[in-house]
Amino acid sequence: MTGDPTQDPAAETPDEGSLPVDVPTSDEGSDRPATDTAGHLLTAGLTIGNRVVVRYRLEDGSQARATDFIGELVARNDDFLIVDTKKQRVKLIRADVIAAKDVPPPASRPGPAHERVGADDLEVLMAKGWVAPDRAGLGDWVLRSAGGFTGRANSALVVGDPSLPIDKAIDYVERWYAERDAAPLFQLPGEPGFAVADVPAGAALLERGYVAGGGRADWDKVLVMTGLASAVPALTTESAPVTADAKLSPEWLMTYGRSRSVVPGVTEAVLTGSDGQLFLSVRDETTRQLVGIARLAIHPGWAGLFGLWVDPAHRRRGIASTIVSAAAMVARENAMPAIYLQVSSANTDGVAFWQSLGFGVHHDYTYLARPSA
Ligand SMILES: CC(C)(COP(=O)(O)OP(=O)(O)OC[C@H]1O[C@@H](n2cnc3c(N)ncnc32)[C@H](O)[C@@H]1OP(=O)(O)O)[C@@H](O)C(=O)NCCC(=O)NCCS
Repeated sequence: MTGDPTQDPAAETPDEGSLPVDVPTSDEGSDRPATDTAGHLLTAGLTIGNRVVVRYRLEDGSQARATDFIGELVARNDDFLIVDTKKQRVKLIRADVIAAKDVPPPASRPGPAHERVGADDLEVLMAKGWVAPDRAGLGDWVLRSAGGFTGRANSALVVGDPSLPIDKAIDYVERWYAERDAAPLFQLPGEPGFAVADVPAGAALLERGYVAGGGRADWDKVLVMTGLASAVPALTTESAPVTADAKLSPEWLMTYGRSRSVVPGVTEAVLTGSDGQLFLSVRDETTRQLVGIARLAIHPGWAGLFGLWVDPAHRRRGIASTIVSAAAMVARENAMPAIYLQVSSANTDGVAFWQSLGFGVHHDYTYLARPSA
C-alpha cells in the first residue's frame, strides 16, 4: 500500500478497497508487552467515534510490510482498537500500529477541502462541534437534548439511515423527547434550496403536521457556509489584538449572554463539550470590555466557528473580520484547512458578513416542529 497517513489528512485517503483479509480477530497474535508500546502511545490520542486512519504492521511473511485501515474508531481497550471500515469491522492489536491519526470525513465530490465533503458527513462533524450533554444515536440519526439551549443541541439530526422504518424512527424520537418533557424537533439537512417534501423523513414529518421552521423565521432555513482558512485575509499590523483562550472565562460567557439567552450550566457544557475549542475575543482599548467574541471548535481537518458577535456600538469597524482572520490563522497553523459555520438565512447582515470574507453556501438545513411547540 502506498500513501503515508501521517501526510495531509485532507488530501487523498488510503484505498479502502485493499484491506488485507488476514486481520487478527482473536486475542492472540502479539508477543509484545501489552500496554506501553509505541503503538499504544500513537493510538492513545485517537477519538472514539471519529474517523481515523491506522497504519498497521502486517504479519511476517506478508508481501507488504504494512497496510492502512480507515474508518470509524468504535472502541479501544489496553490491547485492541476496533475500527469499522467501509467493508468490515476490524480488531487491531495496538502494539502493531505504526502510525495513527484522526482524519476528516471522506470526500464525496470533487473540489477543495471545504467543498468536497458531503452534507450528511459535514452535519455529523458539526454535531461534534456543538455537543448536547444528553444525546443518543438512532442508527445514523443523532438525538440531542440540552435544556432548550439552541435548536442544534435540542433536535434530532436526520442524516443517513435511522435503522428503523421512517415512521417508527419518528415515533422513537417523539417518545425520546416526551421522556424529557420536551417537544420533538428535527434538524433536516439537504442540498442548497432543497424541498422538505422531497426528503422521505421530511415528507413523513409534514404528513404528521410538522412545519418547516416550527414557526420561527430564523429556523426556516439555516445556511451551512464553508471556506478555506487560506482564503481568509491575514491579520495586519492594524488589526486589533485577538485573545484565544482554551478555557471558557466568566467574562466571555457573560458577553455571550448579551447575544442570546443562555441556560446556566447547560450553556457552559455545550460551549466546552467538543474535543477541543478556543474562545476568541477582542477587547475595547478604552473601556477594557469585550466587544467581540467567537468560539472555534477544533476537528480533524476542520475548524468550526460559533457564536460570532460584535457589540452593536462597535460594528462595521472590522472587529468580526479580525476575529475570523485570527481564527483562520489558528486553523492554518493547526492542520485545519477548512472552516464551517452556520447562519440563519434570515440573518441577512450575518450572511453578508460571511460572504464578504469569501465563504459560500455548502448546504442548508431546516428545523421541523409541530406548530404548538
Ligand atoms: C455580523 C457581525 C458579526 C459583523 O460584525 P462587524 O464587526 O460589524 O463586521 P466587520 O466590520 O468586520 O464587517 C466586514 C464586512 O462584512 C460585511 N458586513 C458586516 N456587517 C454588515 C451588515 N450589517 N450589512 C451588510 N454587510 C455587512 C461588510 O462587507 C463589511 O465590510 P464594510 O464594513 O467595509 O462594508 C455583527 O453584525 C454581529 O455581531 N451581528 C449579530 C450576530 C451575528 O449575526 N453573527 C454572525 C452570524 S453567525
